Amino acid sequence: MSDQYIIAGPASQGLAVKLARELSANVISTENKRFPDGECYLRINLEEEAELAGKDVIIVQTTGASTTSDQNQHIMELIMMISAAKRVKADRIRVVMPYLAYSRQDKAFRPGESMFVEELLRWIEHTGATEFYTIDIHAPKVLEVFTIPAFDLDPMAILAQECKSRDINDPVVICPDKGAYDRSRAFAGHFGEGVPVVQFSKKRDYKTGEITMEGDIDVKGRDVIIADDIIATGGTMARAIQIAKVGGAEKIYAVGTHPLLIGNAVFKLLKAGTTEIIGSDTIDSQAMQASMAKVIADAINKNK
Ligand code: R5P
Repeated sequence: MSDQYIIAGPASQGLAVKLARELSANVISTENKRFPDGECYLRINLEEEAELAGKDVIIVQTTGASTTSDQNQHIMELIMMISAAKRVKADRIRVVMPYLAYSRQDKAFRPGESMFVEELLRWIEHTGATEFYTIDIHAPKVLEVFTIPAFDLDPMAILAQECKSRDINDPVVICPDKGAYDRSRAFAGHFGEGVPVVQFSKKRDYKTGEITMEGDIDVKGRDVIIADDIIATGGTMARAIQIAKVGGAEKIYAVGTHPLLIGNAVFKLLKAGTTEIIGSDTIDSQAMQASMAKVIADAINKNK
């Protein structure tokens, strides 16, 4: 029997089971609820406390908001899982957080802000994590706050693979802002030789959140793939889709590693003219078409 135990956090149950299959590891579920006063409760479903003692424990919990819980609840559950694993004397506690909530709060954009993502990562390490894995983090630099090994895994090969199974002709990859350029370049490289990348220019008003985007392209008769890390409200993608439409695009694919799809994002993207929304299972959503289980398993296997 394997000495690796995957703990399936409430927010990543499907991905945890797929990861356990990739690693031929044991998988344990969790029990969670909210108390009447709002406090979170989380218990790893152990038969006895000694079960995880001395073991390689891998906790999988994403932290995007879902229809039933917000990101803050998922963070509390994660901290409780790490704390419980430490208390029952797991040897290694590897945290897999496929989507890192608060990752866009990595800078002080306005006076008086906190850069909270750094605090969150310190909390995870302080509670007992011995390794940290995430996927396509918004700003990789924040991982420097860790003193434990931390890995930002690249989903682009798998997302490109997923897109390749569509009937896509004469593709152009659009990158909706400067920050997404490396990601879009990597995606295009995996998609095929010589696939061009066009970068738009996006500005966000930090007070209102409003987006303005500029771009001018001639993609008449070509298919377009817009690649970004996060699709949250869908505002960024929708604007890029509109510009691609004006430029004469045929099919338009909205590709986002983390399809948060908040509120009416799906409506917004389809109405703007997207052919399909393609995302990964870092977030449980209707767009989770590509699984990151193998990418995570490969990274874990590298750190035996
Ligand atoms: C921003 O820099 C990110 O890379 C995404 O473009 C952004 O977070 C998407 O958010 P929304 O869907 O709300 O426009």
